[in-house]
Amino acid sequence: MAHLVEEYLDAGLEEAVRRAVRKLKGVFALVVISSSAPELIVSARNGPPLVIGMGEGEYLVASDVPAVLGLTRKVLHLDDGQLAVISPQGARMTDFAGKRQPLRVKKITWDATMAEKDGFKHFMLKEIYEQPRAVTDTFRGRLSLEPGGVFLDELGLKPERLRRFKKVHLVACGTSWHAALVGKFLIEGLAGMPAEVDWASEYRYRDPITSRDVLTVAISQSGETADTLAAMREAKSKSSPVVSICNVVGSMMTRGSKGVVYTHAGPEIGVASTKAFTTQLTALILLALHLGQVRRHLTRKQVRELGAELMRIPGKMESILRRDADIAAIARRTARASNYLFLGRGINYPIALEGALKLKEISYIHAEGYSGGEMKHGPIALIDSKMPVLTLVVHDKVRQKMTSNMEEAQARGATLIAITDDGRHPSMHKAEEVFTVPRTSPWLYPLLLSLPLQLLAYHVADIRGCDIDQPRNLAKSVTVE
Ligand code: G6P
Repeated sequence: MAHLVEEYLDAGLEEAVRRAVRKLKGVFALVVISSSAPELIVSARNGPPLVIGMGEGEYLVASDVPAVLGLTRKVLHLDDGQLAVISPQGARMTDFAGKRQPLRVKKITWDATMAEKDGFKHFMLKEIYEQPRAVTDTFRGRLSLEPGGVFLDELGLKPERLRRFKKVHLVACGTSWHAALVGKFLIEGLAGMPAEVDWASEYRYRDPITSRDVLTVAISQSGETADTLAAMREAKSKSSPVVSICNVVGSMMTRGSKGVVYTHAGPEIGVASTKAFTTQLTALILLALHLGQVRRHLTRKQVRELGAELMRIPGKMESILRRDADIAAIARRTARASNYLFLGRGINYPIALEGALKLKEISYIHAEGYSGGEMKHGPIALIDSKMPVLTLVVHDKVRQKMTSNMEEAQARGATLIAITDDGRHPSMHKAEEVFTVPRTSPWLYPLLLSLPLQLLAYHVADIRGCDIDQPRNLAKSVTVE
């Protein structure tokens, strides 16, 4: 690329970069300087994020907002196909053809100190502990108990339009995909609408059947995941309106959506997603309640009751965090295992998947998440006395089934761990380790059960001496395919 720019340098650095990027194929985010124009910085974007920080008498170019937060809160986002030129006279922007583009400066409200560890050993632990606040910030202002309602004007779709959708498609990757799986249960159960979930990377290539009658909901913490952006383009090309659930203001995804439900998690630095996940779950609960309310699937009373219980979740999360030492003890007992099995059912089955993902991401222990009902179709062959089996058992219609899973695992000598809302239930005698979470509505257990699983992964990885905030081979946001 540097050579290509050099070929056009007679036309001046700015024009040379513009001509060069028109010839490039694929994705890129460039910052170009040249000794021939020492006072210019030219940057261009097609794909990966690029932001310009506007400081006091200085400009900064970076790939993400937290990088410039220590110096300025004023930032400018480049869109795909845009080129920015910084000179002592200021910044200006054009498209790749040279047409001037408006500068849209945004003020970031995150505090730079929020991005520091705040006395915690790792960012991940700090972020786990921030969840009560992050969840509160996500529902605050969107939920009212009197008369009872959820307000999501930011969806950009009026109630009449929302009533006409026949189906919801959720697309996402990684941890956000697990949130989408929980979202399916919520939307079907609370809004009475069929919902389908896809990995964005599959959706984009499978020629999905969709139309203007389908609401596409893209979920992403970063708002820059290449596959999710491509899935959104696929949905839009088939006329399906796309809304997103996202944590990053001004990210690519939010600019390509009809509406955005922001998760107010604040910056998440640890690569393994924690508070971004539980705030996504919170946003999905709000979305499902909103759809249920406008489509008259739920009564005002039902919305009010679930809304009131959602407001109690942060306090219940606090009570789990206060018992972190109990989870650390379970971690000490199982940290040397080579394989781990997580089982859940119903709306908590995706939480078993997420628990396994967290553990494998940061501790490098091979972990599988399964629906309890599928245990007999394969994973049971793996269970022996060296394998910890963690079960999620709460008061719902599959409680009895989960208890049978526990019996089967116990019969094979597994180290049985139960995360439950009723530690005194007779069935809990089967488990060697029991951790009790507070009772809540069956729709809201994913929010509570996530915490002990995050803490377990964290402590196991810490005992094993792993690089928790930056696990090997993983990236915080995957902006390439
Ligand atoms: C990467 C991250 C994961 C994240 C996934 C999707 O793999 O390491 O934590 O879940 O990307 O990212 P997104 O920003 O779209 O939620």
